[in-house]
Amino acid sequence: MSDADHLFPVTDAALAATRTTAAQYAANYARSLSDSDGFWRDQVGRLDWMTPPTKMGNWSWDPVDIKWFEDGVLNVSVNCLDRHLPHHADTIAIVWEGDDPKAPVRRISYGELHAETCRMANALIGLGVQKGDRVTLYMPMIPEAAMAMLACARIGAVHSVVFGGFSPEAIAGRIQDADSKFVITADYGNRAGKPLQLKGAVDKALEQCPDVEAVLVVRHTGAEVNMHPERDHWWHELRAQVPATCTPEPMAAEDPLFILYTSGSTGKPKGVLHTTAGYLLWTNMTFETVFDYRQGELFWCTADVGWVTGHSYIVYGPLSNAATVLMFEGVPNYPDVDRFWATIAKHKVNIFYTAPTALRALMRDGPEPVDRHDLSSLRLLGTVGEPINPEAWLWYHRHVGKSKLPIVDTWWQTETGGAMMTPLPGAHALKPGAAAMPFYGIVPALVDAEGKFIAGPEGQNPGPNEGNLVLTRSWPGQARTVYGDHERFTQTYFTTYRGLYFTGDGARRDADGYWWITGRVDDVINVSGHRMGTAEVESALVAHPDVAEAAVVGYPHDIKGQGIYAYVTLNSGVEASDKLLTELRYSVREHIGPIATPDHLHLTPALPKTRSGKIMRRILRKIAENDFAALGDTSTLADPSVVQALIDGRLNR
Ligand code: WTA
Repeated sequence: MSDADHLFPVTDAALAATRTTAAQYAANYARSLSDSDGFWRDQVGRLDWMTPPTKMGNWSWDPVDIKWFEDGVLNVSVNCLDRHLPHHADTIAIVWEGDDPKAPVRRISYGELHAETCRMANALIGLGVQKGDRVTLYMPMIPEAAMAMLACARIGAVHSVVFGGFSPEAIAGRIQDADSKFVITADYGNRAGKPLQLKGAVDKALEQCPDVEAVLVVRHTGAEVNMHPERDHWWHELRAQVPATCTPEPMAAEDPLFILYTSGSTGKPKGVLHTTAGYLLWTNMTFETVFDYRQGELFWCTADVGWVTGHSYIVYGPLSNAATVLMFEGVPNYPDVDRFWATIAKHKVNIFYTAPTALRALMRDGPEPVDRHDLSSLRLLGTVGEPINPEAWLWYHRHVGKSKLPIVDTWWQTETGGAMMTPLPGAHALKPGAAAMPFYGIVPALVDAEGKFIAGPEGQNPGPNEGNLVLTRSWPGQARTVYGDHERFTQTYFTTYRGLYFTGDGARRDADGYWWITGRVDDVINVSGHRMGTAEVESALVAHPDVAEAAVVGYPHDIKGQGIYAYVTLNSGVEASDKLLTELRYSVREHIGPIATPDHLHLTPALPKTRSGKIMRRILRKIAENDFAALGDTSTLADPSVVQALIDGRLNR
């Protein structure tokens, strides 16, 4: 029996803590499909509405038009703040742990978070931000990031958070695409003991964004930055001039809440758009149900607010439940490889949610750094972002979970808003590496290349089976469009298999009906849980004047999950050199950011192409995987000798 076949039954502790037993899950799931309207009608009371909705789901995927709770009116910041004030004004909303373990811990109560959010909302109004305007955030992991998001929500502005590791050029592209006239940033962040320039990066980006009218700058490290006299404003100065209350804007359920850029198979990153009610309800419900969150517990999600995981499970899901979250500015291995475990012990974290890549990196140091700390506060563990290999799952379970704690392996995407497939800790036995079961209302199915159902939908033809993962029904947390390009939304997700939502992932369904995500089947690579489009990296490489052509593929990487392997052909007459390789890496950092830097840069005189000129990526993938014994049919290649040359020069040996 292989590790992956291990079955870890529901523990007594998980059962005692659960709000969802196996029988309840089965009943709820069945009803969520057979009586969708009734099921969701029972859930709308999770939120405070200015006008409660009478309509539930009203959607079509052909043509694509998705609405949930469409006649409801509400405000997201009221749901995350105001409604908690009667009972939780003094409950801590955010515990902040800095990059430097000696930095003073900040503890921000719901009362304070409400006041600060209102102040920031008033400051934004003062700068001219109006309902519907897009506001770009480029922030470190500090409570002001959450305040800025909630302040936008309070006044009906649409935030677009750009991860703090993206380059000025990437920021500029996102500001331009969203046509955003306002930016919120900080002077600097801290990362592993080094300052991370944020305002400076924004200044550089704004050289290309003449339409930006105002920049609000949070003073975090206090290091010196340039302030543009008309355009830039210090948050602490405006803060002193505005009141601590702000009337929330009534928002229609389908008004936009935020845009978040994410990579796909082709072209530039897409501005995935989420709306108000459905997204909030989905994150509220999945947070409470998947993590079995109990009032007073401390929840720690290690993601950055610049990714969807941070949006949904640091900000909107937890705060709409009056939960207490830990927000961590640093990295897992600074100042030492025990930082996660030291932090769990220091703050008595109850629920810990992290990415497989972090676990794989920390596993290399063995269990000793974990064992150094008292982790007895932990009750539940979770993972997200990429498939977790059974070895990492078992290590997490044994050493962090002391062979007792359930692990919820939550599969979802930027486009899905919140968790879609996951075990529920009190309902499902666990299998290392399986995303287990669909959440309420979710109908996964497998299709073959032609779009014929292999397994599912809705129980037909059950496993074991493997194929491309599609979803057959809409859910409240679903993205509604790509900002400014609805056609691209339709093309990307709903035309590969007409009328079905194509996830871009492959999956397997086993004989017990458990779902296993096998990874992306499109040209998206998942590097340390970060989504990267191969086309984006290619275009950053060909931007170099000496490059003729580039082809980028992913390959299995022990720690990152996938690494980036780039094949590059140079213009004729250009000599390869170390200097050129450095410049190519720099080009990627400049256009996208350090996270997209190729692990291997393979300079080659030619790429394998069909006679019609199409690059044969399948072959490039195999060579990058160092698995070229079975390359398949190469007879359609224009010049088959190219393949042997690539094999001889391969870099991942
Ligand atoms: C992958 C992150 C396996 C998957 C929330 C998906 C996972 C992509 C899991 C979305 C998981 C996420 N098991 N694979 N538990 N969670 N993925 O948009 O390939 O950054 O399509 O959202 O990450 O990445 P995104």
